Amino acid sequence: MRHERPNDLSAFWLPYTPNRHFKAEPRILARAEGMYYYDDTGRALLDACAGLWCVNAGHTRKPIVDAIRQTAGELDFAPTFQYAHPLAFALAQRIAELAPEGMNKVFFVNSGSEAADTAIKIARAYHLKRGEGGRFRVIGREKGYHGTTLGGISVGGIGGNRAHFGPLLPGTDDHLPLPYDRAKMAYTRGEPEGTEHYADALENLVLMHGANTIAAVIVEPMAGSAGVFPTSTGYLQRLRDICTKYGILLVFDEVITAFGRLGHAFAAQRYGVTPDIINFAKGVTNAAVPLGGSVIADKIYDAFVSKDNGLGDHGIELFHGHTYSGHPLACAAGLATLDLYRDEAIFENAKKMEPVLADAIHALKGAPFVVDIRNVGMAAAVELDPDPKAPGRRAYDAMRIAFAEENLVLRIAGDVIAVSPPLIAGEADIARIGEALRRVLGRLT
Ligand SMILES: Cc1ncc(COP(=O)(O)O)c(C=O)c1O
Repeated sequence: MRHERPNDLSAFWLPYTPNRHFKAEPRILARAEGMYYYDDTGRALLDACAGLWCVNAGHTRKPIVDAIRQTAGELDFAPTFQYAHPLAFALAQRIAELAPEGMNKVFFVNSGSEAADTAIKIARAYHLKRGEGGRFRVIGREKGYHGTTLGGISVGGIGGNRAHFGPLLPGTDDHLPLPYDRAKMAYTRGEPEGTEHYADALENLVLMHGANTIAAVIVEPMAGSAGVFPTSTGYLQRLRDICTKYGILLVFDEVITAFGRLGHAFAAQRYGVTPDIINFAKGVTNAAVPLGGSVIADKIYDAFVSKDNGLGDHGIELFHGHTYSGHPLACAAGLATLDLYRDEAIFENAKKMEPVLADAIHALKGAPFVVDIRNVGMAAAVELDPDPKAPGRRAYDAMRIAFAEENLVLRIAGDVIAVSPPLIAGEADIARIGEALRRVLGRLT
């Protein structure tokens, strides 16, 4: 029986999980529907984090399930190396239509991490194509999360993800500062003001290394996995201006923020700042089938694919891709998902609910151990004072208590509790999350 607790938990090595403790006290999610998971005893748990920031339309939505089922029976697989299938073109077209002007090319991969590697490789190869092969540096940001491939952790800025794996990718040692200062910004509602100057660190790196060594800068418009750190229009615009001034490509990692989390198809549109590459994954298929990718500015694609690129008719322009790039099931799920987002005005609901979530989470100011609360779009975070003897323990306990006693699925990062419900959440769901969190915080030690 699929929904029963497995007899033997020993073989599966869980990612990003304390395995020994988990196997002693497992949290099994056996079924899901709408805003809810159901555990292996049938207990309903409210999903306060949309899976992993990805199930934006709620779980097991019928149009998406139907599209996957139908496609599985019609086209199980077709390569996109030297061949292609209709669904890949159709989904790329739909994504391009949603993307900012001048960004009309879509490269498919299977995850956000692979999208990070894709952006790094395309940026370097683009400059090489243009005769500027000396541009190899890719600059990330402190606390940035771009997944777990070696490329992703290299441009990422979370110590724990980098510390254990030896030398990382050459040319990725520099990281911009996160535009955050708790002393000045604690309990800010929405985007913090006056953070433009944090972008100026890029000017310093240009002075230090020379612009002719820098290929790209990669940032999240909202750092999600590190614990919900919003940026702002002014900050992103200044980054854009500096990149433009020095011929550096700007990459937005929108793996979390794309497809409605900030109330728009892309956060680039919320802030009115257009990068050169936008990475996406997660919400593109409502997480029903793995899919990621990069939306690419036309000028970059044209640099590779132009008639006079010297490759003739048979030469491959970009040596990159995966067996499952644009897998038919993923594309079918993506098309059904984008229809659902449009038909149910899901991005608009996220916009409408943003202040409701902000009120509910900021109301927790003053609860035990809370040292900061942040929010933007349908994402919010409660940061806890770490136990000096065991950093991370308090948020871990919060997750365990929420699951066991409040029927709530939470996401944690260090001592931050993150809340990012499916974008179909209503006022009652959000109120329940706030009330449950208050009780959980009251039980922490
Ligand atoms: C901004 C960002 N980039 C990349 C990734 C990695 O995506 P994946 O886990 O699909 O490789 C994530 C995952 O949370 C993310 O939040």
